[in-house]
Formats: sequence, structure tokens, C-alpha cells
Amino acid sequence: MKLWSKGFEPDKMIEEFTVGNDRELDMRLAQYDVEGSMAHIRMLESIGLLQPDELHKLLEALEQILGEIRRGEFTIEPGIEDVHSQVEFLLTQRLGDIGKKIHSGRSRNDQVLVDLKLFMRAELRSIAADVKTLFDTLQKLSEEHRDTLMPGYTHLQVAMPSSFGLWFGAYAEALVDDVELLAAAYRIADQNPLGSAAGYGSSFPLDREMTTRLLHFRTLHYNVVAAQMSRGKTERAASMAIAAIASTLGHLAMDVCMWMCQNFGFVSFPDELTTGSSIMPHKKNPDVFEIMRGKCNRLQAVPNEIALLTANLPLGYNRDLQLLKDIIFPATAELRSCLRMADFMLHHIRVRKDIIDNPRYDYLFTVEEVNRRTLGGMPFREAYRTVGMEVQNGTYKPNKEVHHTHAGSIGRLCNAEIALKMQQAIDPLISSAE
Ligand code: ARG
Repeated sequence: MKLWSKGFEPDKMIEEFTVGNDRELDMRLAQYDVEGSMAHIRMLESIGLLQPDELHKLLEALEQILGEIRRGEFTIEPGIEDVHSQVEFLLTQRLGDIGKKIHSGRSRNDQVLVDLKLFMRAELRSIAADVKTLFDTLQKLSEEHRDTLMPGYTHLQVAMPSSFGLWFGAYAEALVDDVELLAAAYRIADQNPLGSAAGYGSSFPLDREMTTRLLHFRTLHYNVVAAQMSRGKTERAASMAIAAIASTLGHLAMDVCMWMCQNFGFVSFPDELTTGSSIMPHKKNPDVFEIMRGKCNRLQAVPNEIALLTANLPLGYNRDLQLLKDIIFPATAELRSCLRMADFMLHHIRVRKDIIDNPRYDYLFTVEEVNRRTLGGMPFREAYRTVGMEVQNGTYKPNKEVHHTHAGSIGRLCNAEIALKMQQAIDPLISSAE
């Protein structure tokens, strides 16, 4: 039986095709659906569409459903289309006619929107917390290995001295930019669409400011059409932040894969964190980071997938939008699992301390030599030429001391400054109400 049933049941095949795995996905929204309904009925009572005792009974029943959801006892029954229908069905089953009053001034279109906004807020906050954990680990490693030099490359050719302090710290700071995008996506999600109903408002005098306060939204999507347009746009903004984090993480994963390669041998992991080969007995492969790289690359396709799904849709609700859930839900989960895995692995990373003793890396120090001569009074171009000639005729001898003192260099990583930047970027996400 459907909420919208008018005396005939739709064809079974049509039902399966249009509902698909939506029930399963909706289970993730159940808690938010109930919270949205609680705010909606409080507001209905305030404008006289529910009596105080009716409100009381409904709130009690919704509280009970919330408990069932938390205990894992809530299901969307066969034949019930979605979470919105299931909650209304339970209320009607348990309270009779009172349950049938809850949907005044509301449509599943704004109901799912509000569920998704609440869901996205919570997911973005969880992602932020996972990013912060990884950030802290990276910064700690950066401090721990601040004096361990490693080669820096340009064009994948030995270039200038770098350090593990610089490398770990670089990924920490890159995450700050990603968090700026995450915070922007959060601000976009943090707006109340409830009251837009099917997409064109209602002739009931809905108090939308009240539901905004009750659900702790920063503001409203005022224009009811804009509120409906936000479906897809919210997910798209979130997916862009997800893609940004995935890009940083994927890059880190690539570095690790390369530096675990015997030709580099810069980092390693305990045997139990590597994987073997079915034929080559010596193998200790970096599968974790390869899977991470692959997953992060896939995650970067998500904004595109959303863009294509929503391209040129007519204004107002269209059922295509339902499919957004199947894109964004797995994406947030996938990103979080990658973030947690990266953090776990980095706790076990082993860093090789004597890399630059290898004469293979002698040329890393040519620029240091040029600069030393320049500081001694030789014009830079002249110093460059003399060192260049020594390299050319094989007489160049590296001096492996490095003195980098400016902000952000090997000798002055500025990790505290970067931590402050992260704090400011992440604050709206971590400390937000609720
Ligand atoms: N499952 C639907 C979705 O995610 C809920 C809204 C249904 N609205 C409708 N007009 N059929 O979009």
C-alpha cells in the first residue's frame, strides 16, 4: 500500500525499477527523517494544525521509533516504498488518525531534502574529524623526522634536498585547503529546506523560522524553488570537497607506493601490513596504498557523476534525484575508510635515515654550493657556472650540510602556524552546535 495509493497498485516490475535499492539507502536517513518530523509537528502545533495532546502523543511515538532505529530494530517493511512512508505508516498503525495528520504542509520532496541536509551535515563533520586525526598524525611525523633528509625531485630527477619533515608536513598543510572546501560544503548543507513542500510551498501558514531553529540550521533556503534546487547542488558541493581530500590522499598513496619500491627504498612497513605474491616468494607489496590510490581516483569522479546525473533537469522535483543517494552515500563512507586506513598505516611507517649518504644523491647539493659561493661574494650566475663546470668535468664534491632558514623550509617547517590555519578552517565543522 502506498502513501499515494488511489485504489490501484502499480505493476510489480515498475515498483522494483523505481524503488531499486532506495529502501536500503533510506535506512541511513531514518534517524534524520524522525528528527525532521519532530520539528515539523512542533511547528504544526504552534500554528494550530495539531492539538497539544496530539503533539504529545506523536512526539512520544516518534521518540519510540528513534529508539528502535538506534537499537537496530527499525526496518522498512516489504511493500513500503521508502523511509518517509514507513515512519508515517508506523505512526498511523500505533496512533490511528493522529498519525495521518503529520503530513500537513509537507511533501516527501522537502522531507527527503531535510533528511539529506541533516545527513550531509553529520557526514561532513565525521569526515572533518577523520581529516583532523590524519592531519595531527602527519604533523607529529613531520616534527619527529624534521632532521631526516631525503631527495627532492623535479621531473622525477634528483633536484634538491628535501626532508621527511617537509614531506609529512606538506600533506598536512594540503589538507587545510581541502578542509576549507569541506567547510564551504557544510555551510551549503546547513540550510533548512523544510516547508518548501513539493517545491512550491504551502497555503498553510508554516513557521519555517521555527523549524530552522529546532533543527539547528544556520539559515533557511528561503525561496521554496531554490530549496528544491539545492538537491544535487548540496551533494555536488560535498563531493567536490570529498574529491579534494581524495586527491591529496591519492597523491600521498602514490608517494608511498613509489618510495616503497626497492629502487628508492625510502620507507617501509612491518611485514604484516604488506601483501604477498602467489608466485614470487620475496614480495612485500604496497597493496594498501594501491587500493587507496585507486579508491581516491574513483572518488574524484564523483562530482562528475553528480554533474551528469543532474545536468539539464527541469526545475522542480524529478525522480532522477533519488539516484544521488546511491552516489554520495558510498562516497562518504569510502573516503572515511581511506582516511582511517592512511592514519593507521602512517602510525607504522618506517623511515630510512641514511638515504642521502648514497652518492647517487650527491647532485642534490649543487644549489647549496652555488648559494654558498654567492654568499661568499661571487655573483650568482658566476657561482652557478663554476659549480656547473665541476659537475660537468667530474670534480664536483658535495657538501651535505643544509642551512634553510626561511618560513616553510627544511629548517623552519612552521608546523605550529599550519596547525593554527587548520584550527581556523575546521572550527566551524568540529565545534558546530548539536
Ligand atoms: N525516494 C524519493 C527520493 O529520494 C523520495 C521522494 C519521492 N517523491 C516523489 N515525488 N516521488 O527522491
